[in-house]
Amino acid sequence: MRVLVTGASGMLGFALADSCPSNIECVGTDVDTLDITDAVAVGEAFARQSPAAVINAAAYTDVDGCESHESEALAVNGAAAGVLAAACSDAGIPLLHVSTDYVFDGTIPAPGEYSEVDPVGPVSAYGRTKLAGETAVRERLPEHWIVRTQWLYGCHGKNFVETMLRLASERDELAVVDDQVGSPTSTHVLAPFLWRMVAERPAFGTYHVTGGGACSWHGFAEEIFRQAGLLPGSLTLSTMGSDQLDRPAPRPARSVLSNAKLRAALGEAPGPWVEGLQDYMSRRQAVGART
Ligand SMILES: NC(=O)c1ccc[n+]([C@@H]2O[C@H](COP(=O)([O-])OP(=O)(O)OC[C@H]3O[C@@H](n4cnc5c(N)ncnc54)[C@H](OP(=O)(O)O)[C@@H]3O)[C@@H](O)[C@H]2O)c1
Repeated sequence: MRVLVTGASGMLGFALADSCPSNIECVGTDVDTLDITDAVAVGEAFARQSPAAVINAAAYTDVDGCESHESEALAVNGAAAGVLAAACSDAGIPLLHVSTDYVFDGTIPAPGEYSEVDPVGPVSAYGRTKLAGETAVRERLPEHWIVRTQWLYGCHGKNFVETMLRLASERDELAVVDDQVGSPTSTHVLAPFLWRMVAERPAFGTYHVTGGGACSWHGFAEEIFRQAGLLPGSLTLSTMGSDQLDRPAPRPARSVLSNAKLRAALGEAPGPWVEGLQDYMSRRQAVGART
């Protein structure tokens, strides 16, 4: 089975190529080879490759940048998702479209988790554009899996783990926000589940797929430093509020997603996020050892 993957040079795209099962041929494309906002180019790529399914991992992911460039972000995250869905509909093939917890407003009280049917309400431009993508896919193609995930990190991408480790190498004291709660998700854990969905074809619709359990960014940082052997140690880690960061885009305060539907469909869901982090820490060491 040949599967066309868009956004293949991105963080999730890399993990998808890395974990592609041997019975699937992964054809990776990115904006330099297939700009998904270009409907003609998308049609030509489909004609050339005759894929049996498509995974859309391409997106405009600069959350703060979206606030001042919403129309550019909407073209990629919204309209282009519709272009891919229409092309899949013409070709009679399914689309797995990757979305985000940022479609929710984050006001669910603890210890609640959002299910796939909970009302959406994005609080940022990024969230609005990703929601537009979901809507475009649903309108054009019943044969879709929309997979919402969150707090992604993985090899070959700018991510929170690498930022924390870099900052810890530069400073003795660090403050990290503790008023946003979510589930850290390794792309290396997520990607195999996306391949399973394409191969095993659970019922079409929307699914949440994240690392198991939840924490604040501060809790995530603490575990990163513990696993890196920096805590306990000379590093001092303290908490701060999101308002102190003064970022252009507001973030949902609590956007923990329930994996229950995925578990019912595939008989399995990602393990605890702490284990995903352990796996990532060994991967980054292996990559470092090779370079
Ligand atoms: N990162 C997270 O924390 C997170 C959380 C929840 C959901 N997600 C979703 O997960 C998916 C993958 O995210 P990621 O973190 O892997 O993002 P990423 O590293 O930014 O990868 C996205 C890729 O898409 C490419 N792209 C941008 N515009 C394109 C276009 N017009 N045509 C084709 N490709 C284009 C980007 O190229 P350039 O780099 O050249 O722009 C990049 O290679 C996205 O749908 C994202 O919304 C991410």
